[in-house]
Amino acid sequence: MAAKLITLLAAASVATASPFLSRREVGHSKGFKLVASVAGGDAKNLTVPIDGAFLGGAHVGAGLNLAVLNITDGGVTFFQNGTAAEVKDAQSTISSDGGTPLNPYGLQAGLDTADPRTPYGVTLDAGAGTPGITLTAPADGQPGELVMGPASFIACDESIAYYGPDRRFAVVKDLDASRALGDLPTNIPDNCVRVSLRPLCTELGTLPPGSLSSHEFANEVPCNMVLPGPR
Ligand SMILES: *[C@@H]1O[C@H](CO)[C@@H](O)[C@H](O)[C@H]1NC(C)=O
Ligand SMILES: *[C@@H]1O[C@H](CO)[C@@H](O)[C@H](O)[C@H]1NC(C)=O
Ligand SMILES: *[C@@H]1O[C@H](CO)[C@@H](O)[C@H](O)[C@H]1NC(C)=O
Repeated sequence: MAAKLITLLAAASVATASPFLSRREVGHSKGFKLVASVAGGDAKNLTVPIDGAFLGGAHVGAGLNLAVLNITDGGVTFFQNGTAAEVKDAQSTISSDGGTPLNPYGLQAGLDTADPRTPYGVTLDAGAGTPGITLTAPADGQPGELVMGPASFIACDESIAYYGPDRRFAVVKDLDASRALGDLPTNIPDNCVRVSLRPLCTELGTLPPGSLSSHEFANEVPCNMVLPGPR
């Protein structure tokens, strides 16, 4: 991919044109895992696996998690939460259930408005997700991609203070691609790569009595039935 200036939309259509995924491997589910793949040819030798790693949370305090990728732990089961109108307006959220009793834990992030080159950490904290961090709904019915307005998601090989300096994580952040995209490859810190996150179908379990979470507004979405092959 020579073009530097690649839109999120173009990235999505390149991915859906992948010869490794045929239509019959696309399912529909309310529950899904979010699986990362390195986007835009950002080949770097990071010490943590990114391709095929699952999105989840690294606990950093009561009800607080940094969004991280992990290839072995299976990640978190997510669902897209919102009314039909919110889905149509791309204002739905991505949520999950955590804690005891089960509470909503939403995907949350913002943008560094002062400096588009500064990555902004994505969290999976107790509470609702940020409206607009949601899945695209490609017209051809293929699985969408996690998007956040003008941002691109990146995964960074780094330690998390809570766990000490020696353990490395793949910490998920975002960059304001609308302002930094022209120079995005050079704006991405050396320890980070751009990632695409796509849904892998999984069952959304029923909530036990006493849960504070609700699946009333969980939407069925197209999702991959098998892990995407190499692209
Ligand atoms: C990654 O490591 C391999 C093997 O050591 C090396 O051939 C390759 O050039 C490295 N790639 C980058 C982008 O540093
Ligand atoms: C899910 O969406 C509904 C409808 O907008 C909203 O009332 C509810 O608070 C949302 N729940 C979460 C956890 O975001
Ligand atoms: C992935 O999860 C396993 C099991 O919890 C843990 O041992 C490992 O350090 C994690 N890897 C990364 C890159 O966070």
